[in-house]
Amino acid sequence: MEIQQVAIIGAGLMGTGITQSVAEAGYPVKWIDVSSGQLDKGIKTIRNLLNRKVEKGYCELHHIEDTMERIITNEELIKAKDVDLVIEAVPENMEIKKKIFRQLDEIINADAFLASNTSALSISALASVTRRPEKVIGTHFFYPVPKMGLLEVIPGLLTSQNTFESLKTFGQKIGKKAVLCKDFPGFIVNRLLVPMINEAIYLVMEGVKPEDVDSAMKIGANHPMGPLKLADFVGLETLLATMEGLYDGFKDSKYRPCPLLVKMVEAGTLGNKTGKGFYDHREKEQVL
Ligand SMILES: NC(=O)c1ccc[n+]([C@@H]2O[C@H](COP(=O)([O-])OP(=O)(O)OC[C@H]3O[C@@H](n4cnc5c(N)ncnc54)[C@H](O)[C@@H]3O)[C@@H](O)[C@H]2O)c1
Repeated sequence: MEIQQVAIIGAGLMGTGITQSVAEAGYPVKWIDVSSGQLDKGIKTIRNLLNRKVEKGYCELHHIEDTMERIITNEELIKAKDVDLVIEAVPENMEIKKKIFRQLDEIINADAFLASNTSALSISALASVTRRPEKVIGTHFFYPVPKMGLLEVIPGLLTSQNTFESLKTFGQKIGKKAVLCKDFPGFIVNRLLVPMINEAIYLVMEGVKPEDVDSAMKIGANHPMGPLKLADFVGLETLLATMEGLYDGFKDSKYRPCPLLVKMVEAGTLGNKTGKGFYDHREKEQVL
């Protein structure tokens, strides 16, 4: 089935970026959040980012109104009916997501696709609360969505090949390279990236300076950003939650969160968002 109309549930960090990318690609979007404040904020964010694109000469002025006209906001899930694809981007909580999937399964057409932007939760478990497990799939976008070209596409155990192909094509149409992942914690990128950052934190716990760890990986492994600067950027509580997800999911000690990571989250030193992490973002000086 060709995807023509899309609903996006959630107007937070990810829902906003996904909505912008999908609307810019020409799809009409029903954008739904329980909070009208979040929707208003999201609309302002998208408008500002589009304005900046025009200022930089990346697109024509009419692109702003063309895109904004395709987005219709609402606070009720029922407005998602008649769409061909729903992308859910609400908080990373299985119970909240399952409740929404159950409701959407009742609301949307029998042949519509249901996708989740979950970072780590089981797609098969989400699919199990619907009567359409073959049409449920994971679509994991990366922050900031309009700039990041990757889309991890994750079929659950019962997802059909047709659903995978349809979402892969949809990904291409919104300018993303879709990669096929398996429904196991961390998919591809977080499974590789987050344990590497966790290991970098072990080095700091053993006494290596954060700036030396970062320089080593930038110069020695050609990484564009050191793992600890990246940790501060992503947020230490997010990294801890991801490590815990890997640890719980695989029951393997190699995914044990570094005790220093746990301690820093307990102390509220979460990185850029709190001003302190492995670096001091207020003074631009190193903390640890
Ligand atoms: N933050 C990231 O870098 C990132 C990256 C990839 C994937 N993800 C995943 O994307 C999802 C969303 O993350 P986020 O960072 O955008 O979260 P967020 O907290 O910024 O936004 C969540 C939004 O969902 C809304 N919401 C809550 N309950 C709702 C409901 N019942 N119906 C409709 N809206 C509801 C909230 O009002 C909020 O606007 C999570 O599953 C997360 O793991 C996040």
